[in-house]
This record gives sequence, C-alpha cells and structure tokens, in this order.
Amino acid sequence: MDAQALSLNNTIEKLNSNVLNMLSERGKNIFFPKLGILAQSAQAKGKTINATIGEAVEDDGTSMHLPEFDALVNMPTANIFPYAPSFGKPELRTLWKESIYHKNPSLKDTVISNPIATNGLTHGLSMSGYMFANDGDTILLSNHYWENYNLIFENSYGAKVSTFELFKSGGFNLADFSKKLNEVEGEKIITPLNFPNNPAGYTPLTAEIKSIVAEIKKVADTGKKVIVIIDDAYFGLVYEDNVFTESIFVELANLSENVLAVKLDGPTKEDYVWGFRVGFMTYAIKGGTTELYEALENKTAGAIRGNISNISQLSQSLLHKIYSAPTYEDSKKKKYAILKNRYTILRDEISKTKYAEYFSPLPFNSGYFMCVEPKKGLVAEEIRKHLLEKYSTGIIVLGNVIRLAFSAVPQDKIPELVENIYKACIDLDK
Ligand SMILES: Cc1ncc(COP(=O)(O)O)c(C=O)c1O
Repeated sequence: MDAQALSLNNTIEKLNSNVLNMLSERGKNIFFPKLGILAQSAQAKGKTINATIGEAVEDDGTSMHLPEFDALVNMPTANIFPYAPSFGKPELRTLWKESIYHKNPSLKDTVISNPIATNGLTHGLSMSGYMFANDGDTILLSNHYWENYNLIFENSYGAKVSTFELFKSGGFNLADFSKKLNEVEGEKIITPLNFPNNPAGYTPLTAEIKSIVAEIKKVADTGKKVIVIIDDAYFGLVYEDNVFTESIFVELANLSENVLAVKLDGPTKEDYVWGFRVGFMTYAIKGGTTELYEALENKTAGAIRGNISNISQLSQSLLHKIYSAPTYEDSKKKKYAILKNRYTILRDEISKTKYAEYFSPLPFNSGYFMCVEPKKGLVAEEIRKHLLEKYSTGIIVLGNVIRLAFSAVPQDKIPELVENIYKACIDLDK
C-alpha cells in the first residue's frame, strides 16, 4: 500500500476505527497524491517562469483559448478554461456547504465534511461504491429504485442489490426495512436512501423519518457498521404538509459512531441544470472532526482524480455565479411553484373515481415523478406501447408499474395524460 494511503488510514483509525472498517479495499488503498506532479506544480505557482502545468498559456499568462468562445461566455478566462481542482472549486464548495446548513436547519452546528465536487450525483453514487463497496457486499435498496443503481453498484463494484418493500398501507414499510436491514450478513451494511424517490415520488413523513432513523440506530447499536448513502437528487421538491422537508442526513449526521452518513446532492434537479454535471459528496458521523473528514475528503478526491480527474470548471463557475445572484432564491421559488402546480393537478386528476377501475397510484408527495399500478391483469408494457401508437403519449414502465414524469408535462396536458392512460386501459381490456 502507498505510504500516503497508509497515513490517511492511520489517521482514520486513530479518530474512528469504525470508519476504516467501513472502507472497501479500494477505499483503503486510495489517496490524493500530495507528492509528485501536483505538489511540484503547487510549489511553482507564481514563479516568473512556470513550466509545470499541463495546459497551454498565452504569452500574457492567461489561458490559451479559441476566440470563438469569447462572445459566448461572459466570465474571466480563468473561470472557464483551466482544470478545476479534483476536490472541486473551493469557493463553490464553501457556498454549497453553507447551503447545506441553510436548507437543513436542524443540522445546527453539527460538524460535517467539506463537500467534494462530483460529476453529478451519478458520479457521487459511483464514488460511494468505490469508497465503501467490496465484491459481494450487499446494497440494501427500496424495491422502487433508480435503475442506474444496478449499473453502478453491481456492474462496477460487484456488490449485490437486495431490496425492501418501500410501501405498506399507503406509507413507508418500516417493518420490511427493519427486517431486511437486520438480515444483511457481515459487519457492514450499505443502504442508499433516496427521498424524494425516483420513481415513486415519495418522501417519508416526519414521523416515518424518525422511525427509519431509530431502526438504523438499533442495528448500529449491535455493532454493525452502517453506511447510509443519501441520494438527495430531488431535494427541496416536497409538495405536501407533514412530509419531511430536510434531508434525512440531519438525523444521521450525529446518530452513532457506527453510522456514516454520505450525502449526495447537487444542482442537477434542484437548480434545473441536468447537463452541467456537478454534484457533491459530503460526510458526517457522530464525533467526526475536521481531521477525520479531511482524510475522507482526500481519499474521495483521489478516487475522483483517478477516475475523471476533475469536474467542469465552466459549470462550477456558472453555478457559483448564479448562487450569488440576488434574484436566485426568487427564481428558484417560481420554478418550484410550476412543479408543485403540476403535481397538484395530477394528484387531483388521478384520484378521480373512474380511474380506480383500471389503475391506482402509489403513494407520492414530492419530486419529479409518480407511479401507477395497472389493475384487472393489464400489462404495463402493453399499455405503454398502445399509448405510443394510438395516443401519442410516452410513459416509462418499470416492472409492471408505470412511471409518470409530471415534471416534464405542461399543466394543461396533465388531465389528457391521465385520460389517455385510462383510454388505453379500456382499449386493452376489451
Ligand atoms: C435518484 C437519482 N439519483 C441520481 C440521479 C442522477 O443525477 P445526476 O444527473 O446529477 O447524475 C438521478 C437522475 O435521474 C436520480 O433519479
């Protein structure tokens, strides 16, 4: 093992040996190189002649670039063209950390790591797999999960996906979550929790969140090491009362020295910048110190450097700029209102009694999506094909469940969307 990785492991072991045991073999071996090219480049910064960096520089010291870009982006070249640090742009990391506290006031003064920039949440999920999942480890997910989790955890890291039933009697199925949590073999449990959920569009109610956290605490108290990967992709898009509006991160960040909370979040869905590819990965554990977090940040940035090097400088700079704009909060509220309106129309429409003959909605209260289950033995995939052919309507089918992205449908088309599904069901029921 490299001496730099060993030194990080020693620090982690000294501060909380449970965290060392949570790391995968890859996680144990990785480090962010402090020596070598990066260290030598850092030492040469500001010197009269600097022949260290792997970028091209104009004679006046600015980034070499093609002039066609000038009219397109109104920012200093240093915020557009150079590589960003593997940890992310420092000023954006600082702003994002502040925003985590702002959006999650229950965190109060809990010490959390600095967020590390990832290439969207997908990459954060992948880096979580890198850091914590060994071949054969179980990844406990709800039965309604984003299909990419398989590619990330199973195909890339050789882990095994196991599921609990998300719903029972119109709410979170605590009994099955607890059962499956306790059935995970070995010393370590890795469980990604995604609220608002894709595909179901469900966020647990405040009381349910407390029960979920209590179950995690119980299993951690038996000595198991629990890594909760919190996929907050749709954070903030909650449309009903009594639903938990903060991230479950706030309840886990200071829960137990056996529970590591790994928060994945970012502007992708929250700020409507899907193609920017910026996300963040932030750690918290009871008793966590800056020194412990720096060791984890170093390892994570090392994994990022060895994977994709760093995240888009341009995207990070654009985000930093808009987060400082005085109109930002207001603009965001307006977009939220549009989505909430679509949600409300769909919720009211789909609950009309005539539809209950052919399909029923799964619980939903947040996010971009909701799901319906066909009845009378109808097959979701046949409904989907029929909708495309006869009603010019596209939906997603997952198993025998239909997912509707109300985030993508104008409000005046939402009644028609539901009516089309109904008509397709009637056609197929003949
Ligand atoms: C639950 C969930 N997590 C993560 C992502 C990916 O986010 P990003 O585009 O930031 O990689 C998605 C995107 O669909 C998602 O639904």
